[in-house]
Amino acid sequence: MPVAGFGTRFLPATKAIPKEMLPIIDKPLIEYAVEEAVNAGIEEVIFITSHTKVAIENHFDSNFELEEKLSRNNKHEFISLINPEKYKNVRFTYVRQKSQKGLGDAIAHASHLIEDEAFAVLLADDLIFSEESCLQQLINIHENSGLSVVGVNKVSKEDISKYGVINPSVEEDRNIFVNDIVEKPTIENAPSDLAVVGRYILDSSIFGYLKRVSEDKSNEIQLTDAIKLMLEEKKVLACKYFGKKFDCGSKVGYVEATLFKALKDESMKDMLKKYL
Ligand code: G1P
Repeated sequence: MPVAGFGTRFLPATKAIPKEMLPIIDKPLIEYAVEEAVNAGIEEVIFITSHTKVAIENHFDSNFELEEKLSRNNKHEFISLINPEKYKNVRFTYVRQKSQKGLGDAIAHASHLIEDEAFAVLLADDLIFSEESCLQQLINIHENSGLSVVGVNKVSKEDISKYGVINPSVEEDRNIFVNDIVEKPTIENAPSDLAVVGRYILDSSIFGYLKRVSEDKSNEIQLTDAIKLMLEEKKVLACKYFGKKFDCGSKVGYVEATLFKALKDESMKDMLKKYL
């Protein structure tokens, strides 16, 4: 999970706390992503982080003092929230990315920890609500095919330039073979309306391709460019996942996600509907 970005769009809120710690109601964005991974059976979470992100390390560590206090005050229901049972067997590892050199560079920082396995990439900004999680849907496809898989969804023309966009080939059962992939194309150059969402299952050979990628005009190494190189030698699948995605890297997406979640919460929805 790359979490080294500055979160400029949310300043001043993100001056002293990481953007991934912004909550959707009562849970930080990063925890939604970690839950999605852990619920899908992932046992090691590697954060590619930076010096401004210690709050994330603390969040996934135990807080003995707080637990003690909650326990003494008979507030046991909160203990499971701050120290969930399901994280007990999960290893959290932190690798510092010293300079902001893009998503591809961030992922490359985990190469020594991953070795020869397929692994998942989750971008916490993309919050997806669905019955079967988006990551689980990708994992199912990877398990059947052995291939790298990227999550995609349709986006409108005006928004296409914000994303990696695939050139799709044949579609079978919502799975599409990817012919090509382009990072943030202009509207005119977009090969389709299928944008990559922040969920990937990647073959470890991606690290070799990442080494061959040169910096783009913003001096960043793009993961998309490494996938493009991978496509010259390997097949890659795209999954049109089922689910509702919110771009929590934007203020509108963040507020929409908050409302979506709140309107599903029995304790809040009636009051909120009245207000809205
Ligand atoms: C990154 C990827 C892009 C992808 C997007 C999904 O872009 O580079 O290909 O479509 O995440 O959220 P970013 O949002 O970091 O600019």
